[in-house]
Amino acid sequence: MKALFLLALALPLQAAPSDEELLKFVKERAKLERLTPQPVDMAAKVSMLCGADTGRKPEGPHGGAKFLVYGNDSAAMPVFDPWGSFPEGSLLLKEKIGREDGKTQLFTGMLKREKGYFPEVGDWEFFVTDGTVSKITGRGRIANCASCHDDYEKGDYVTKAYASPAQLSGGRIVLHSSTAQVQGEKLQYESKKEKNTLGFWVNPADWASWHFNVAKPGTYSIHVWQGCGKGSGGSEVEMKCAGQSAKFTVEDTGHFQNFKEREVGKITFDKAGPQALEVRALSKPGAAVMDLRQVILVPVK
Ligand code: HEC
Repeated sequence: MKALFLLALALPLQAAPSDEELLKFVKERAKLERLTPQPVDMAAKVSMLCGADTGRKPEGPHGGAKFLVYGNDSAAMPVFDPWGSFPEGSLLLKEKIGREDGKTQLFTGMLKREKGYFPEVGDWEFFVTDGTVSKITGRGRIANCASCHDDYEKGDYVTKAYASPAQLSGGRIVLHSSTAQVQGEKLQYESKKEKNTLGFWVNPADWASWHFNVAKPGTYSIHVWQGCGKGSGGSEVEMKCAGQSAKFTVEDTGHFQNFKEREVGKITFDKAGPQALEVRALSKPGAAVMDLRQVILVPVK
C-alpha cells in the first residue's frame, strides 16, 4: 500500500488536472521539493505585477514581499541549469509571503502542458490561487504572466533568478557549474548552450569551488557529470569538502561535452551550516583535465 502511494507521488502530473487536483498539489506542497532554502526578497516591480490578475492592490512603494519556490520531481533539476528545459508535467509553484506579517498572500504556478498548448511561452499553463488555497483565481494562457515570462526563453520561460547552490528540502545539494567560483588562469564557466560547463581546464593549477549551506547533517554521495575528449582521460581529480577528500580518475567520454554521471565518493557533514566544496586537478596527462557540468550531493539513506 505504502509503495503504491509513493509511486503515485512520483508520477508526473496529468496533462490537464482539474482545479481540485491543482489545488491539492498546492495544499500538499510539503511533498514537492522546495528549491529556495529560505524566503527570497521579491523585487518591488515583480511584487506588484506577479499575480496582478488577482485584483490585489500593490502594497505601496515600500511594501514588498518574499517568496519561496517549489517544484515537482521533473521540475527541480532544470531550475538549477540556466539552459535546462522542463518535460511535460513539470510543476513550479511560487508562494508569495508578506514581508511585514509573514502571511502567505497567494500562489502563482506554472504547469508544463502538452506540446502546442501555448507555444509563445514554452507551453506553460499559468495559474494563481488565493493565500489559503481555497480556490483557483485564474488559470490558462494568462497574457499578463506570459508578458514577463517570455523574456526568459533561455531557461524555458522560467526565470531561475533565485537559483544558487542549495540544499533542496528532499536533501539533494545541487552545485551547477554556472554558480561555481573559479580561481586561476583558464578554467571558466563556458555559458553557451552546447557547453554550459566548467571548461577550458588546460592549466592544472586552476580550481573551482562552491559555497552552500547544509541543513541536514549526514552522509552524502558525490555525483559528478564529467566529460572528456578522446585521448585526454586519466587526470586525477580531488574533491575537498568538510576536511575530507574524494579522488577520482577522469574517464574519457569521447568528447568534452559528452557528460557522464559518476559517483566518485562520499562525504559526511557532522553539523548543519556553511560549507565549501573544492575541485582540484592533481595531474593532467592530456589536453585538458575535464569538463564538469555539475556536482550533486545525494543523501545516503
Ligand atoms: C513583472 C513581471 C512578471 C509577471 C507579470 C509575472 N511574473 Fe512570475 N516571475 C517573475 C520574476 C522576476 C520571477 C522570479 C522570482 C521573483 O523575483 O519574484 C518570477 C517567478 C515565477 C515563478 C517561479 C518559477 C520561475 O519562473 O522562476 C512562477 C511559478 C511564476 N513566476 C508564475 C507567474 C504567474 C502565474 C504569473 C501571472 C499571474 C506571473 N508569474 C507573472 C516575473 C513576473
